[in-house]
Parts: sequence; structure tokens; C-alpha cells
Amino acid sequence: MSSATDCLEVGTAQASLHSDVISGLSQPQKTIPSKYFYDERGSQLFDEITTLPEYYPTRTEEAIMRKFAPDIINLIGPDALLIELGSGSSTKTRILLDRLTTLKAYVPIDISSEFLEATAERLRDRYPHLTIRPLAEDYTKELWLPTEGLSYDRKVAFYPGSTIGNFDPDDARDFMRRVRVMVGDKGGFLIGVDLVKDPRILEAAYNDSKGVTAEFNLNLLNRINRELDANFDLTAFEHRAVYNEQESRIEMHLVSTIEQLVSVGNSEFEFAEGEYIYTESSYKYTVDDFASMAEAAGFRLTHTWTDDARLFSTHFLDSNL
Ligand code: AVJ
Repeated sequence: MSSATDCLEVGTAQASLHSDVISGLSQPQKTIPSKYFYDERGSQLFDEITTLPEYYPTRTEEAIMRKFAPDIINLIGPDALLIELGSGSSTKTRILLDRLTTLKAYVPIDISSEFLEATAERLRDRYPHLTIRPLAEDYTKELWLPTEGLSYDRKVAFYPGSTIGNFDPDDARDFMRRVRVMVGDKGGFLIGVDLVKDPRILEAAYNDSKGVTAEFNLNLLNRINRELDANFDLTAFEHRAVYNEQESRIEMHLVSTIEQLVSVGNSEFEFAEGEYIYTESSYKYTVDDFASMAEAAGFRLTHTWTDDARLFSTHFLDSNL
């Protein structure tokens, strides 16, 4: 049973690594979209980041989800179709799947197909009775949910990890509007959002002492060298992460330490010493600001859970008719 609302139309034009990198590096402020971090190595590095002592979001979100799991499970309700946007290794999802005994199906969506398939296999072992329909797509593009032959009571989207923070605020709202269209009038949305806090805690989380975040950031250049026949010198770029208090966001940069010329396929790009590529925004929200955005997107925020230190928040939204 698929319908027009099963189409999640999130992005604008078709995008690809090649066109996005060429156009991003051609702008006055050079930029590369953060979604391209997650090749196989990047996904591994990100998983390592989530275990670092300084990187509080993952373990805090998991603790919140465990603590409030009974409430969350009740809100999702029986016979739902659970759709995860950017599922990665689906670690947090297991907190839900272990307890959602009557779920109709789970649709993990992820841009990294190798990772997605391996994850789906592991989940099939763990949940032999659950219907799992992985979708190897960029969930910021138009896509169709693989719902053929399924019947379910409601659709609930799951978007953990504060990945919403990677969008600029207007794009975040537009994205949430499209999720609202996708889940329909009976829909729900479970989402994790990192909170505004002491900049020292934030900056430490993105400048870990082991240097894993630096490697994660620089891996983007490795990937471009490999996949786009480019010649970035990884010893001539440096990781930087700073909190922009005005914009409530962590900014990740790759700073050119020398004046240099880099070729990407047939194109050449000049870097001045100190010039940087903007690689990621990670916006932090207050609960009030997030609630306003949810409302502007056609949702009603019905529940917010946080840890005692108010580092992170998990929200349940209902479609607002
Ligand atoms: C997965 C996008 C939420 O912004 O904290 C971690 C990615 N970047 N360290 C984040 C990330 C650097 C992460 N998100």
C-alpha cells in the first residue's frame, strides 16, 4: 500500500559528490556538504567519535531513550511503520526495536549502502519476525518508501543524533515540513536535538584529544581524492571546530595551512594561506526554539525529555491537523 505521501521530497535538485564539490569549491566561501563525510571510513570514524569521552551527545541521547523508553513506545503506538532517516548502524533504534513488539515494519534509510546492508543483516538476526526494508538513498532527496504490501496504523519517523543540526534553520524547517508530509495526518516524529550550552563543553566535543574528529573532517579530502581524482595534500589542511555563539552553531572548517593549488578532476582551485573549506554546521537549539520550528513545520511538540544536565533533548511530535 503506497500512496502519494510515501514520497519524501526533501531536497531541491539532484545532487552528486562531483557537482556538489565543484560548485562548493567555486564559491567565495568554499564549502563541501557535510553529508559526504559518511563513506565507509567516515562512517567508521563517526562511530568512533560517538564513543569518545568528550562527545556527550550519543551516550546522553541513548540514556534519555532508555530512561523514557516506556513513554516513547506508548507514543509510537502499536502497528506502526518506523522510518529512520540516516540510520547508520541503527544502535539507538535497538532501544526501540527491543521493546516495540508489534511494529509492522522498520525502514532504515541511509546514504551509505555497504553500511546499511550490513546493519540490516544484523537486525534480521536479532529480530527475525520484524519486516525490515532498508533503503539505500540520500534521504535529503526525493524518495519513495518501500511500503508495497505492508499495512500499518501510522507512520512514525525517527531522526536521532541531532542530525537536524546540520541544516541551516530555514532548511531544517523545510525538511521537517517534508517529514510532516511523509508521515501524514496520523503521523509521529521522534527526534533528538542537541541543546545550547556552555561553549567549552561544545568545543571540547568537536576537538577531541585523540584527534578522531580531525581525522573524520580530513577524511572528506581523502574521499574526494579517491572518488573525484583530486590531489588534496592532507598534510596542508588542518581541522578546526569553533562555536559561533551568534548563530548557535559549531562550525567545522578545513584550513589551508599554505598557499596552494588543488585540482579536482579537470578543475583547479586556489587556496590562500589560512583560507578554509566550511565542512559542517552543527546547530544547537533551546527547547523553545525547537518547539517553534516544529510548529512552523506542521507538528505539535507533545513531549520533551532531557538528561539532568540538560545537554541533550529527545522530542515526540504529532502531526498537527
Ligand atoms: C551526526 C551530524 C549530529 O554534528 O555532532 C560529530 C556529526 N561532526 N563530530 C554532530 C559530527 C563532528 C554530528 N552529527
